[in-house]
Amino acid sequence: MTCGCCHNRLPVTHRIASVKRETEQVTSFTFAVSLGAKPGQFVMVWLPGVDEVPMSIANDDGKQLQITFFAVGDTTKKLALLKKGDLVGLRGPFGTHYEWKPKQHLSLVAGGYGAAPMFFAASEAAKDQCTLTAIVGARSKEHLLYLDAFAKLKGTTVSVATDDGSQGHKGYNVELLSALLKGKKKPDQVFACGPERMLVAVSDLCHEQKVPCQISLERYMKCGYGLCGNCTVDPLGIRLCTDGPVVKNELARTITEFGKYHRDHLGKKHSL
Ligand SMILES: Cc1cc2nc3c(=O)[nH]c(=O)nc-3n(C[C@H](O)[C@H](O)[C@H](O)COP(=O)(O)OP(=O)(O)OC[C@H]3O[C@@H](n4cnc5c(N)ncnc54)[C@H](O)[C@@H]3O)c2cc1C
Ligand code: FES
Repeated sequence: MTCGCCHNRLPVTHRIASVKRETEQVTSFTFAVSLGAKPGQFVMVWLPGVDEVPMSIANDDGKQLQITFFAVGDTTKKLALLKKGDLVGLRGPFGTHYEWKPKQHLSLVAGGYGAAPMFFAASEAAKDQCTLTAIVGARSKEHLLYLDAFAKLKGTTVSVATDDGSQGHKGYNVELLSALLKGKKKPDQVFACGPERMLVAVSDLCHEQKVPCQISLERYMKCGYGLCGNCTVDPLGIRLCTDGPVVKNELARTITEFGKYHRDHLGKKHSL
């Protein structure tokens, strides 16, 4: 038996209700369970006998929970081989989440699998009558994620940027954000999730243009609930599994390692 405060600290196995191949490298799983998660939070995904890895929640609508992941290494490549009906352990939800007020205008900047949590934020904010601009970026059009899902949301405009120009603006999604922030209709807030280099550019731009911004920062996570200390960042020593992953720009800008380095499972520094 577990006590109420730690019920989400132990993995519970769930059968995969559906599998969607988003792209050659990206897969989404849906589980017929709600963890009551909020946009920006994450779960620890356990593949018995292999490992446990953090994943952002791509949706939790009260009935179903979704994750979307890149097959990059040992665990995620093995996860990508699973089929409908296979068992996966989930722990969580953990961490902070994006926050908005009803009827705000939000710009959501998504790179890579960051499109998944940005979609979750957009779908929940749309229920609060927010108007949304989703700015989705990828290397080329085959790698763009969640475009159809964003397009179906009420009050949502979708802008696309690809590095090679195969769809939408040729260049970075941050260039589209820059045009938006320098235009007449500034958003009330910017949310961003994606590669750290993109987050640094979003952070600088929002700071310069004085637009409030919330970004999702990732570090190596083991426990997910503040115990192991593996996800602490310099110089503050805050744990990004509990004080993040979603942080306000003012806090992000006090993290000296932001955009510079991260630590691996042994705490060793690696340049970004
Ligand atoms: C809060 C958070 C949310 C994430 N959300 C997603 C998501 O929605 N979709 C997605 O595809 N990926 C997500 N990731 C990254 C994902 O956890 C790693 O890609 C995954 O752990 C790789 O594991 P692997 O064994 O397949 O690869 P490995 O070969 O073990 O690792 C590949 C790279 O992944 C990173 N990584 C490995 N293990 C961890 C870990 N325990 N914690 C953090 N980073 C790790 C390291 O940078 C490593 O170099 C998220 C990470 C964090 C911290
Ligand atoms: S992952 Fe253990 S303290 Fe953050």
